[in-house]
Amino acid sequence: MKRATVIFITAAILAACCPRQSSTPVYLDPTKPLEERVEDALQRMTLEEKVAITHAQSKFSSAGVPRLGIPELWHTDGPHGIRPEVLWDEWDQAGWTNDSCTAYPALVNLAATWDRELSALYGKCIGEEARYREKDILLGPGVNMGRTPLNGRTFEYMGEDPYLAAQLVVPYIKGVQEQGVAACVKHFAVNNQETRRTKTNSNVDDRTLYEIYFPAFKAAVQEGGAWAIMGSYNLWNGQYNCHNKRLLQDILKDEWGFDGVVISDWGGCRDDDEAAANGLDIEMGTWTNGLQGAASNTYDMYHLANPYLERLRDGRATEEGLDDKARRVLRTIFRTAMNPVQNFGSFTSPEHFAASRKIAAEGIVLLKNGGALPLRVDEISPRASLGRDDKPTILLVGENAYKMMVVGGGSSNLKAKYEVIPLDALREAFEGKADVVWERGYVGDTRTDYNAVVTGQDLSESRSPEQLKADAVAAAKEADIVIFIGGLNKSKFQDNEGTDRVDIVLPYGQDELIEALAEVTPNLIVVNISGSPVAMPWADKVNAIVQAWYGGSESGHALADVLTGAVNPSGKLPFTMPKALADGPIKTERQYPGIEVEGVPYWEEYYDEGVFIGYRWYSSKDIPVQYPFGYGLSYTSFELSGAFLTKKVVKAGSNVTAKVTVKNTGDKAGAEVVQLYVNDAEASVERPVRELKGFQKVYLAPGEARTLSFTLNPEDLSFFDADAHEWKLEPGDFHILIGTSSEDLPIDLLLTVK
Ligand code: GLC
Repeated sequence: MKRATVIFITAAILAACCPRQSSTPVYLDPTKPLEERVEDALQRMTLEEKVAITHAQSKFSSAGVPRLGIPELWHTDGPHGIRPEVLWDEWDQAGWTNDSCTAYPALVNLAATWDRELSALYGKCIGEEARYREKDILLGPGVNMGRTPLNGRTFEYMGEDPYLAAQLVVPYIKGVQEQGVAACVKHFAVNNQETRRTKTNSNVDDRTLYEIYFPAFKAAVQEGGAWAIMGSYNLWNGQYNCHNKRLLQDILKDEWGFDGVVISDWGGCRDDDEAAANGLDIEMGTWTNGLQGAASNTYDMYHLANPYLERLRDGRATEEGLDDKARRVLRTIFRTAMNPVQNFGSFTSPEHFAASRKIAAEGIVLLKNGGALPLRVDEISPRASLGRDDKPTILLVGENAYKMMVVGGGSSNLKAKYEVIPLDALREAFEGKADVVWERGYVGDTRTDYNAVVTGQDLSESRSPEQLKADAVAAAKEADIVIFIGGLNKSKFQDNEGTDRVDIVLPYGQDELIEALAEVTPNLIVVNISGSPVAMPWADKVNAIVQAWYGGSESGHALADVLTGAVNPSGKLPFTMPKALADGPIKTERQYPGIEVEGVPYWEEYYDEGVFIGYRWYSSKDIPVQYPFGYGLSYTSFELSGAFLTKKVVKAGSNVTAKVTVKNTGDKAGAEVVQLYVNDAEASVERPVRELKGFQKVYLAPGEARTLSFTLNPEDLSFFDADAHEWKLEPGDFHILIGTSSEDLPIDLLLTVK
């Protein structure tokens, strides 16, 4: 029975059994303002009922108020799709047969689209699936910055730049919440690695926080109106982030005006007194003492359960503090489960799969093209040297042409209704025109069962690595077109929650295999499927390189769309592709993964690189990279012209507008992402030589041109002055740099701030 019906029946019963009530109680009246409903419900609740709604009652639900007909809150992972149902108090699958979802692309794939409208579409679709599955809180999106390419959860986040992540997270949140589902933006904050994530203290200065690690969360709250934020497992300045007073109370709630709920990461709540006092509103969990294990169904032992009740009764905790928590939880219930606008969502609809395919394709990045792409389905002719006149042969080499990747990776693991693999999609695309064959080439991850979500594939392999490589090279000699499809996967030490990678070198001997294939293939095409950067030492030896991602249910179709030219690639890298890990800003153990300090009960990690992460580092230090942030090619070409500033000299405090015309100078429709970076010619602090402060993605027909406007506000030009605790715009010259990647900025407009 739909929740709305239950609510109204409850109201009717209440009205009937309480004759003195002339009308529906305010909290049950959907026409009443939200805050009135909250206050009315709050004053009807007992102390025990208020405490009950501040913590988990099962693995993925927190209590409502049964007596008043106020429903419980159902939480669900994850950022890429609605996680299959688990048992009440276990991580094990519940074995339902109605919860196979649409798998959407990994968030790094969404980030690579640089498309705000696609992000809104993504949020809408995943919100509809959450609503249909009667979930109230979606545990996503994640917007932790790409401080190190080794972070195991890079695939779940939106890259290395705060402006890109902030601009894309806002429409996603709005899309989700328009369905009456709360987006729970995570993991707040500076949770930039998986190594010892529950016992590492991030030491970060305020300027770095406000310029790099906060913007996406601040935008989520102030522009996206996020209804929930997830506290992260790690510590910041010596306090666990699930109950970090400065982070949650002073900054998030007081400074930014957040009126929703702070939810702990599962088991991230570690202390009774801090849980009661420091801004945590719902304690969710795995166990009660910080992931150390406990008996099942111990929800009464949670920090915000009986221990909290004791503190309220003996005065160590205040009822005022409890009321603040309870108000926030009630507000969330009235925004979701009891939302006046009853959405019913939809699940695994054709529209959802179409959206998933479109987003996946729009985020695929063409890194190099010596002419081998797009594959002209009707023009492929057998390689003359092979002296054959039958149908051409297209050889795919690599485990990722076959292995299903929606599963695994940790909490974003999904049971999808289906997942199209590249091999099947390319066979479809070349049906009747070419034979598409596959050689595994290497063995990566043979797992096909992730927490009882099974793919049905058989990834077992009897051949030795040498044999696998020999078979692939032999097949390449006989093929007309060879496409290597490899990269990373969702196993440990790859793109996976709970562990970090150990290097950015491709695993499983792929580099050697690619080199061997390039020896025998004149125009080798390499597709790297990963959620994080990889080194490409063979880049000069292959004809074309495509960066594809974990694209979800339609990933194979999306890749085929781009390889065949059905979709003109328009993705841009959301992070730098370095030549080597050592080129990056992290040089010491104390920077990453942290060090042990005598007498300190956790690991200490120091963000010594400050604001210089990603392209901020490489460009400021003139370190060459394989492919830069914001880079991506197209099957057509674009030209920028006519750029100017509406005002060349401005008073500090006023906005400035830059204009530029972009034209499609090629013969195919396509999209370009015009990017604007700011350079402060002289500053009292060391600033990155460029910082992204504007981008627009434009789809243009051949020959079509469009003039774009970018308006910069004073904060866009400023740095954060930690001592004054405010953004500071120093007078002087600025260079407004415009182009199509962080290293291709042909337009340099001089702006003087008085
Ligand atoms: C996990 C993750 C978090 C997830 C939660 C529930 O540990 O850190 O992202 O939403 O627990 O599965």
